[in-house]
Amino acid sequence: MKPEAGSRRPAAFEFEADIARASTIPSRCYTDAMFLTLEDERVFGRTWQLVGRTDQVAESGQFFTAEIGDESIVVLRDGTDLRGFHNICLHRAGPVAHGCGKRQTLQCRYHGWTYALDGQLLRAPEMEESSGFRASDFRLLPVQVAAFGPLIFVNLDPAAPPLAHFLGDIPERAARFRVEEMRWVMRKSWTIACNWKVYVDNYLEGYHIPVVHPSLHKEIDYGEYRVEPHRYWSLQHAPLRPVPPAPGGDARKYIPAEDGEQAQYYWLFPNVMLNVYQGQMQTNVVLPRGHDSCEVVFEWYSATPPADPATDAQWTKLVAFSDEIQDEDIEICVQVQKNLRSRAYDRGRYSALREVGVHHFHSLLHEFL
Ligand code: FES
Ligand SMILES: [Fe+2]
Repeated sequence: MKPEAGSRRPAAFEFEADIARASTIPSRCYTDAMFLTLEDERVFGRTWQLVGRTDQVAESGQFFTAEIGDESIVVLRDGTDLRGFHNICLHRAGPVAHGCGKRQTLQCRYHGWTYALDGQLLRAPEMEESSGFRASDFRLLPVQVAAFGPLIFVNLDPAAPPLAHFLGDIPERAARFRVEEMRWVMRKSWTIACNWKVYVDNYLEGYHIPVVHPSLHKEIDYGEYRVEPHRYWSLQHAPLRPVPPAPGGDARKYIPAEDGEQAQYYWLFPNVMLNVYQGQMQTNVVLPRGHDSCEVVFEWYSATPPADPATDAQWTKLVAFSDEIQDEDIEICVQVQKNLRSRAYDRGRYSALREVGVHHFHSLLHEFL
């Protein structure tokens, strides 16, 4: 049962590092709005967030804006440098950029203060009577920005370790899938009535596959499914079945590569999934939209993009299968969120065999909170 409301300490929960003895995190982590405030500051405010793509800022002056929690940022190309700033004018907090585009300066949309692409204030109209005011004293507040292949990440915390430290050896492990060469194909998003962590938990285990995803279960070798936790990320291996399904069964949906591993499923703490296949890749980003809702954004990439994914036979089949799996996941996630609000449930236990990835996520969450 839940602890009494008066005894709640929303900012803290006990957590056991040994999965064999651990209980899952308390239900209030998924249902209490205070947790999201804390997560915005300590999790989303300190980790690398996937915000866009290198093709959006290929040329000097190209920019795009993005939101991380309540923070608005702008990412741009200045010559060959990739830069990121808080999208906040130093005058009275107007926005210096809107949407995306290409400009050689950023002009605030309130009183027109104008900044160079390196953040330096160039011009501020009608400030000559303001004592001691010098434009050269003002520079937009930077954020850390870095790219991995076509993906651009931002970290709001100037003291956070660089993206490369966070990614560890993912670039080497994923090198055989040629992530660097992948080009953007399409995007799809869903708003789901569950806390962002319900969706992430669900992604991090294959334990639910036999029950929730019968058609996926036919494709993969469930016995060989494994999860490898690393410092800030985990990797799931879900090999395809060695033999096709029984006669009359579904045709194989993915074409296995001739050699070795067909796919790698990375999760980057806290909210990014990177699914890499031969010649194809998919990112999933889980964005909190309040404490009981999230937006899940899928973006597909390919080494050989189709002319039009909406009419390409291979892509329509691939997206239809992805949609089928996603619909099954959404249904169970929404039911779980509803039940997490019940007085009848607070914490459960982990399968030490099958929920290593979920336990690893919760231990990182505990560490950051
Ligand atoms: S707030 Fe930007 S110019 Fe006034
Ligand atoms: Fe699933």
